[in-house]
Amino acid sequence: MEHAHIHGGVVRRLWPSDVTAFRDHLLRLDSQSRHDRFAMAVSDEFLSNYAERCFGIDDVIFGFFVDGVMRGAGELRGVGLGLDKGSAEAAFSVEIGWRRQGVGAELMGRIIQAARGRGAETLYMSCLARNRAMQGMARKFEAELQFDADDVTGRLVARTPSAAALWNEWLDDASSFATAMLDLHAQTYSLQRPGRPSC
Ligand SMILES: CC(C)(COP(=O)(O)OP(=O)(O)OC[C@H]1O[C@@H](n2cnc3c(N)ncnc32)[C@H](O)[C@@H]1OP(=O)(O)O)[C@@H](O)C(=O)NCCC(=O)NCCS
Repeated sequence: MEHAHIHGGVVRRLWPSDVTAFRDHLLRLDSQSRHDRFAMAVSDEFLSNYAERCFGIDDVIFGFFVDGVMRGAGELRGVGLGLDKGSAEAAFSVEIGWRRQGVGAELMGRIIQAARGRGAETLYMSCLARNRAMQGMARKFEAELQFDADDVTGRLVARTPSAAALWNEWLDDASSFATAMLDLHAQTYSLQRPGRPSC
């Protein structure tokens, strides 16, 4: 699978070298978005600590980048070697200026594919009852997910991932890893050059 290009940006998997981009994206979320994402009010310190802990062996995160800046994230946790094998948790965040352009849906499609590829059967999405955006986005995936009565816990429709889908994901991982390394190199180089602004 090639990196998806949408609205001048690109979606790719994140790697540990992307922790700063991920943290800065979370820090740019306003208080309402933070509340919707984490189902509670969260401080900058909470978000910084959270970002540091997000690159465990069971975690898969996709990012939406525009001009090298991360503007959206789709996160999948608790799959593979997780304690509760068979279930996973998904979460999404898109910065306000990039909403309603299909970014969230693109990220959700990737997360569903990644969950299925890792054998997850149930996908939990913690979502406040009043979160119409998340509910509307989830409804776009009714063919992939059967929703429980709470409307936010999706059972993945049984479908064995095809060899082609797994192969595409492997290619995508390899290519996103290479891109992450290039981004890291560019970042390090720009930090080392004297007189350059660091923002
Ligand atoms: C939920 C969120 C990720 C959606 O991101 P997005 O990029 O705007 O989503 P998309 O553009 O792909 O929209 C997909 C669908 O979701 C629904 N939707 C999105 N925003 C909506 C809104 N404000 N009101 C109603 N429906 C909405 C629509 O059905 C939309 O399809 P359409 O544009 O064809 O009508 C984004 O609003 C967000 O980051 N919110 C704050 C954090 C959050 O609530 N996370 C979810 C809990 S983990």
